[in-house]
Amino acid sequence: MDKIIITGGQRLEGKIPISGSKNAALPILAATLLGNGDHHLTNVPDLKDVTTIIKLLRRLGVTVQAERNGLTVNATTLISHDAPYELVKTMRASILVLGPLLARLGEAQVSLPGGCAIGARPINLHLMGFEKMGSEIEIRNGYVHARLRGGPSKNNKRLQGARIYFDNPTVTGTENLMMAATLANGTTILENAAREPEVVDLANFLCRKGARISGAGTDVITIEGVQKLEPVDYCIMPDRIETGTYIVAGAITGGDVYVRKCIPRHLEAVIFKLKESGNRIIEDGDGLRVKGLDRPRPVDVKTLPYPGFPTDMQAQMIALMSISTGKCVITETIFESRFTHVGELRRMGADIQIQGPSAIIQGVPRLQGAPVMASDLRASACLILAGLAAEGETQVQRVYHLDRGYDRIEAKLQEVGAKIMRVKGE
Ligand code: EPU
Repeated sequence: MDKIIITGGQRLEGKIPISGSKNAALPILAATLLGNGDHHLTNVPDLKDVTTIIKLLRRLGVTVQAERNGLTVNATTLISHDAPYELVKTMRASILVLGPLLARLGEAQVSLPGGCAIGARPINLHLMGFEKMGSEIEIRNGYVHARLRGGPSKNNKRLQGARIYFDNPTVTGTENLMMAATLANGTTILENAAREPEVVDLANFLCRKGARISGAGTDVITIEGVQKLEPVDYCIMPDRIETGTYIVAGAITGGDVYVRKCIPRHLEAVIFKLKESGNRIIEDGDGLRVKGLDRPRPVDVKTLPYPGFPTDMQAQMIALMSISTGKCVITETIFESRFTHVGELRRMGADIQIQGPSAIIQGVPRLQGAPVMASDLRASACLILAGLAAEGETQVQRVYHLDRGYDRIEAKLQEVGAKIMRVKGE
């Protein structure tokens, strides 16, 4: 297995371009299942998770062709409605094909994703929504079997518009039901919906295709079903978590980094907290410049649904706060066990205690390089950041987690002066 080796202590300086958003690309690729014809998608990030969803789409009969500038995706002829375990187990977001398949074919079979390193991650809210829209759901042999009540969509039978309230504002749940509702009979109202920018990017893509959606980006989304959707060209929005990760890379190395081709307003909570900890952050049209300090001031952080501080930036913020000048508390409210990076940071000399949903961090002057192991995507990013700031060499193992969500991370960091390289494994 590959590992990443970092020699820490280099001040990062220069420009980093941001790739397309993973969590927007995945639902948008799934949404191509909703209709016929060639879609041309640009700014698609080159990531393992994108490869996984492409594999899944191909398994369903979709043709996906890579072009110099993106992907051409055509779902005119579907040959299956089955998302098998071997693909879903490597990427939970595979559940995003459930809504489009159900809307298009009237039936779908998707392996249950199960728990993962960051928590139990149930899909009960997705399933509740599909039931309200007129489907029967059965869990059998580890699979979700969903079909229109009364059988698959013969004689133009469709899902029914419904009023759906989410107990939790779920991101992929909102996306799954929004996609399904575009082709339903009548109007669907999603209440307490997720407001994340990725939900808005998906809604923009669907509206471009002819869907009638209003309220995306607020907690009430209204979708009026239409008869059919058209193929379109679409450019995926920039990745806000990749952006935040590189801003922290600038801050944690006391560097001066300009992150290009991003959307600063998607990161307001992160920018606010980084400014509060003393970093200088300057925003312009399509970028963000961070000028870091020798050691940041401690700041408390609580993760929340958008526009709150993103859980996907919690691990990176803990890395930064581990070298702060005092004590702070970072509280995780979205996922119940998203602190696996803390044990590894401690091996690098960080002083962090976990108390329930909170990490109590006492900043230390320097971290020390060490061999460490990543257990999920954002934990890997956290360990890379810690390695950039640490004295000596850090080896990050289980890099496949990182490759799921960061496009060319070593190359981008090398371009701003990091000493980082990948050692290919067996
Ligand atoms: N939840 C339920 N029932 C459900 C769905 C969710 O109780 O049916 C709970 C979850 O357990 C969690 C909360 O609701 O406590 C929010 O989870 P959500 O459903 O929003 O998470 P998700 O849609 O599975 C997406 C991102 C994650 C990101 C979360 C939160 C994608 C593909 N994934 O996951 O991204 O952490 O939203 O913002 O969009 C990552 O990129 O590293 C990543 C994990």
